[in-house]
Amino acid sequence: MTSLALYSPPRAPKGPESVIIVGGGLAGLFCALKLAPKAVTVLAAAPIGRGASSAWAQAGIAAAVGPGDTIESHVTDTIIAGDGIVDEAIIRTMAKEASGRIHDLLDYGVPFDRDLEGHLSVSREAAHSQNRIVRVRGDMAGRAIMEALVAAVRKTPSIRVLEGYVVEDLIAENGQVTGVVARDKAGSGAEPHRITGSNVVMATGGIGHLYEVTTNPTEARGGGIGMAARAGARMADMEFVQFHPTAINVGKDPAPLATEALRGHGATLHNKAGERFMLPLHPDAELAPRDVVARGIFAEIRAGRGAGLDCRTAVHDFASEFPTVFGYCQAAGIDPAREMIPVIPAAHYFMGGIWTDVNGRTSLPGFWACGECTSTGAHGANRLASNSLLEAVVFSARIAEALKAEIGPDAPATWQDGSVTTTEYLTENDHPNMVALRQVMSAHLGVLRDGAGMREALDTILQLARDSHSVRFDNVITTAKLIAVCALNRIESRGGHFRTDYPEEQAEWKRRTLLTLEQADAIIPDLLED
Ligand code: SIN
Repeated sequence: MTSLALYSPPRAPKGPESVIIVGGGLAGLFCALKLAPKAVTVLAAAPIGRGASSAWAQAGIAAAVGPGDTIESHVTDTIIAGDGIVDEAIIRTMAKEASGRIHDLLDYGVPFDRDLEGHLSVSREAAHSQNRIVRVRGDMAGRAIMEALVAAVRKTPSIRVLEGYVVEDLIAENGQVTGVVARDKAGSGAEPHRITGSNVVMATGGIGHLYEVTTNPTEARGGGIGMAARAGARMADMEFVQFHPTAINVGKDPAPLATEALRGHGATLHNKAGERFMLPLHPDAELAPRDVVARGIFAEIRAGRGAGLDCRTAVHDFASEFPTVFGYCQAAGIDPAREMIPVIPAAHYFMGGIWTDVNGRTSLPGFWACGECTSTGAHGANRLASNSLLEAVVFSARIAEALKAEIGPDAPATWQDGSVTTTEYLTENDHPNMVALRQVMSAHLGVLRDGAGMREALDTILQLARDSHSVRFDNVITTAKLIAVCALNRIESRGGHFRTDYPEEQAEWKRRTLLTLEQADAIIPDLLED
């Protein structure tokens, strides 16, 4: 928690007491819109909608809205994918409210694909037993959703957007979270602002950039999660990182994604010798759960055999069916109609994060969280494809409802000063220790893990934390430390957490991990001794 004496008086524009939302991605903006006409301040490091993983989502939103599909079937598929530790009440709420939130998005102007009769079109992805993915123009869902929400936010007078503001810390008074400490001008040089409000909602996204190969934007490095942990919030399931099997392996950072929908369409995986290596590994081959496919590809790459996605017969008109992937391929000089797309597993989604209840409430009064920075329990150990955007809209809407009931009615707010934008944005990989951190996370806390490697990683992370000298890096390294502690502590393999020294699931570990930073720190000496 920050020491208030260090900070200058508030310089942020004055206005009605607002709910402060940290993060300009899907969860943050949807929450802001749902709170209207209550006063809201959205703080975002980059222009809203940019720097958010949601904008890069290719597939779409899972919702049981297609013919023959049911909420129960969506619940069951999610529970199976989550490998034993999905919170059933949470996923049932999420599946039930999916249709309502899709209609909200339609109202905000999202042009979801429809069939000839005007019904929403739904498509299939791995581990879904039904066609259930609501999409936009093939693989454009994330971009289209964010464009619609950004436009709606800009038109809503009760929402003030402060762009180019990097939030570094939470402010608490008498145990209640009442605001944040933020810097503008790319978070360096300028004096910090204290921005206070009635409540704070964290919506800062995931952690992909803690790894060398990731599909996430550079902002996704766990800063908000670490900030919450440092403030004493309860965290959950921090060991579970999802690696997407098929990032395009052309040495780009972030790595462009080749959507799972390609395999849903029949694309197959092959090594350099042409062998379809997933066939002997799982009865569903390329459509096996994501963690299984990621390990299959990882093994081929490690053995020097490489991995490629063959879309040549599965996709007929690449440019119109998968325009985003086609664009990535063209930029890399790959013609997917003639050659395989080289692929590699990449850090893609974080099942862990800030623990919340079914209304997005964290363990700290006045502090709420939604989207990928949370761990609601909906995903268990392995997220089912296209459930992440759904989780973001369902729980951000629930936060808005709960907050409206809690704060009570007030006059519709209008900000006189509107949006404030700085021209300098956060530049990433800025801290000198970021490169070393990404290396050690990838080497020992990636697709395959073992005790000796994770101990080495934790040791390195503790050293990097001692050398931090930066609040922002403290937040990032705290998240990395919690991942290492929780991964080392879980003595089994489950979902995204695969230990070569304990490759089986263990019944006694069929439970979620819930802990505070203080509790994690207390077990480190024992973990390092083993
Ligand atoms: C993909 O399009 O493969 C990603 C979908 C998701 O992560 O839910």
